[in-house]
Amino acid sequence: MQGNELKRRYIDFFVSRNHTEISGKSLIPENDPSVLFTTAGMHPLIPYLLGENHPSGSRLVNVQKCIRTVDIESVGDSSHLTFFEMLGNWSIRDYFKKEAIAWSYEFLTNKDFLGLNKNRIYVTVFEGDNDVPFDYESYNAWLSLAVPKEHIFKLPREENWWQPAGRGGPCGPDSEMFYDTGAEKCGSDCRPGCFCGKYFEIWNDVFIEYNKQSDGSYVALETPCVDTGMGVERTISMLQGKKTVYETELFAGIIRSIEDISGKKYRDDDSSTRSFRIIADHVKTAAMILGDGNAVRPSNLGQGYILRRLIRRCVRHGLKIGIDSNFLAQVAESVIRTYESAYVELASRQEFIQSELSLEEIQFRKTLNKGNKEFYGVLADLNKNKKRLIPGQEAFHLYDTYGFPIELTQELAEENNITVDRAGFDEAYRRHQEISKKGADKTFKGGLVDDSLMSIRYHTATHLLHEALRRVLGEHVAQKGSNITGDRLRFDFVHPRPMTDEEKKSVEKIVNDRIAENLPVSVQTMTIEQAKNINARALFEGKYGEQIRVYSIGNFSTEVCGGPHVESIGDIGEFKIVKEQSVSRGIRRVRAVLT
Ligand code: SER
Repeated sequence: MQGNELKRRYIDFFVSRNHTEISGKSLIPENDPSVLFTTAGMHPLIPYLLGENHPSGSRLVNVQKCIRTVDIESVGDSSHLTFFEMLGNWSIRDYFKKEAIAWSYEFLTNKDFLGLNKNRIYVTVFEGDNDVPFDYESYNAWLSLAVPKEHIFKLPREENWWQPAGRGGPCGPDSEMFYDTGAEKCGSDCRPGCFCGKYFEIWNDVFIEYNKQSDGSYVALETPCVDTGMGVERTISMLQGKKTVYETELFAGIIRSIEDISGKKYRDDDSSTRSFRIIADHVKTAAMILGDGNAVRPSNLGQGYILRRLIRRCVRHGLKIGIDSNFLAQVAESVIRTYESAYVELASRQEFIQSELSLEEIQFRKTLNKGNKEFYGVLADLNKNKKRLIPGQEAFHLYDTYGFPIELTQELAEENNITVDRAGFDEAYRRHQEISKKGADKTFKGGLVDDSLMSIRYHTATHLLHEALRRVLGEHVAQKGSNITGDRLRFDFVHPRPMTDEEKKSVEKIVNDRIAENLPVSVQTMTIEQAKNINARALFEGKYGEQIRVYSIGNFSTEVCGGPHVESIGDIGEFKIVKEQSVSRGIRRVRAVLT
């Protein structure tokens, strides 16, 4: 059974039991600063689990794309993935344990659905502790389905309690379902939940009975909910009898494209296999992030930083299997072909996905060349002095001067059987942050920067704002006026409505993410026609053939302008919108500051 068929059967099963199919949501959570990505199917549904009524009713079913990066270092083994799809059925204060468990068991064992052998199904329930009692209701629900006692395991909180990543919130005991692969037990205490591979976890029914408070206490919900999760990749690999998720159709095309590019085979040796898997997983995740409606770009902050790390690891593992030219856009093409029927936005954003991957790849290859030389220089010195530890200060120097991420230094060190003084690095990093913060305070608050330099910064910030407004509000945004002092910028533009708080936040975030990337500013002279051809923003008044100047900030904004601008934007400060108002019909005004 392929992934699409599994999804179809799952949705059909629950729709026929009065569930409404709802669409999956963005990978980038809205209104939830506590996590960077949607880490589970429940994430977008948290407000409903905590009490809001869902517009589609009290029984829901969906497929949700998810990203989990806590185990990023384990990717490359047979089962860890950073991107996966999760099937879920939901009771929003409707049915509870008995029904949820009965349906789970029916879907797993009925031959019209998964048709798994009942004798091979094992389940677990929460054994209880000082805070929450033994989950006898789930235990009894399994017994009443004639699941033998020997197949029901009572396990502690570490294994049978679900809590969303990164925050308190809706949580409760869960009941997990496993399939016995028939492999030998790894030891006398091998049981469902053991990682040896004998018991394959298929599904998790979570009974949302509590809301965990920020002080750590649990408040019982008035009416509980059900959240269930079945991982698509894992489940089909089990149904297809494959040893790993990478052998299913959800990876086949992607692995093939890496084989074509590298001229190597996925199975050549263990180390190549690991690199193939890392590239396949990470390009998929990166393409999904860039293909999302709320796409972020590689940067040094938040989601952008995770994206950057994923891309950079791919480049490094590409080198390990002999790929030394740009290849990520090509691998992304096979990701898009694999998923475009499920996620139409991937095809429509193909160009963006591929160009962002390539840009980051090109930039990183430059960094790598420089940093590699430096790293091997450090290594030679250590060898000469018979030392096996890279001092934290040295690792920080690689980071600060060569843009070499600490994770990369650690990986290279491991390959060369030495270690990095991570605590020393963290200390150097912290000191540096403090110093630059102090420096910034002095620069901005102490008035050392004169008004004219501040005005130039505001001018460059205005270009960033202009482009960010177009991206957030739409292509209709056109500049109607700009006014800059040493203390603030004011920008007037075409837009029919007041901006919402979210829109303002998104605009600020886009601008600040670009600042964090420290994009360079460049200027070119060209004719109006040429400027039009490269889609530079302008009113394009002027004579045919007239020469004009076009300022570009990275590849983010391109605008016809007389200047002046800063050379790169990393130091201009933090951008904040302080006011948004109407100036005339259809024209809005934003005031913003750099702090
Ligand atoms: N939230 C649970 C999980 O992610 C069930 O969906 O496993």
